[in-house]
Amino acid sequence: MTNIIDGKARAARLRAEIGRQIGILRQRDLITPGLAVILVGEEPASQIYVRNKANQAREAGMSSFEYRLANSVPQDKLLGLIERLNGDPEVHGILVQLPLPPQVSEARVIQAIDPVKDIDGFHPINVGLVATGSGEGVVPCTPLGCMMLLTHHLGEMRGKRALVLGRSNIVGKPMASLLLQADCTVTTAHSATHSLADECRRADILVSAVGRESMIGGDWIKPGATVIDVGINRVERDGKVRLVGDVDFDSAREVAGAITPVPGGVGPMTIACLLLNTLAATCRQYRLPFPDDIVSRAWEDEVVEAP
Ligand code: GUN
Repeated sequence: MTNIIDGKARAARLRAEIGRQIGILRQRDLITPGLAVILVGEEPASQIYVRNKANQAREAGMSSFEYRLANSVPQDKLLGLIERLNGDPEVHGILVQLPLPPQVSEARVIQAIDPVKDIDGFHPINVGLVATGSGEGVVPCTPLGCMMLLTHHLGEMRGKRALVLGRSNIVGKPMASLLLQADCTVTTAHSATHSLADECRRADILVSAVGRESMIGGDWIKPGATVIDVGINRVERDGKVRLVGDVDFDSAREVAGAITPVPGGVGPMTIACLLLNTLAATCRQYRLPFPDDIVSRAWEDEVVEAP
């Protein structure tokens, strides 16, 4: 029977454990982790993501600072805000929601964030530290959440064939790098890949982050494969806006060994990992030990499902 990987429940438990650790930090060290989130423009999906990130940070016991800037904001103004937040002792993590409008260079903005406050893991210093497998650096939230789900469901991944669909800096590239570090045989597929269906059918682990509604059907999936669907696509069905993944869930679940649903799969894990990265950044800034066992603690009394 196919396992439905319940990212929503996993993330709730992880957030609860993060909240517990923040409680300890606040009481013992009189430190409250602070997360600053910057949104430029009024893109509806980004507004929802940013609101969820800020609310969940507050619920976990963090200070949350939200900045909403007009779509027409000049780059210098945004860079000035980042510089101010870099020097603000109450802010330990800075997130600028992407994408940004065309007058603003994403690269300039990302590089302006102090690497120790870069809780997205997008700064070139963190990208380099993660890509070299140094064990240091900040792992981007979505790939980190995917790896946690995969590790929990599969345990050992050594030698498995992994296919990552998509080559973005946010998901595809770091995801492929983490799977490689887990000793998988990794292929990255993208818009120019030939015989995509055949590539998918060879994969023991399939991670899709292309943003194309229901592109992957059950007939593209290897029987027993573990499928992680990162896609969040808004579609109108029966007069209602619904969220669907890159994978056609109903046909895929007939074939896959385990699969994440959309919504309720990777999305909640991304936000939980953002809180985790903010807590880790706070500890680093005060040279306090980070509770490395936080994930195993959060999930420790949970029955591990057979792959
Ligand atoms: N836009 C889509 N995903 C992300 C993310 O993980 N971080 C930021 N900053 N922007 C995003």
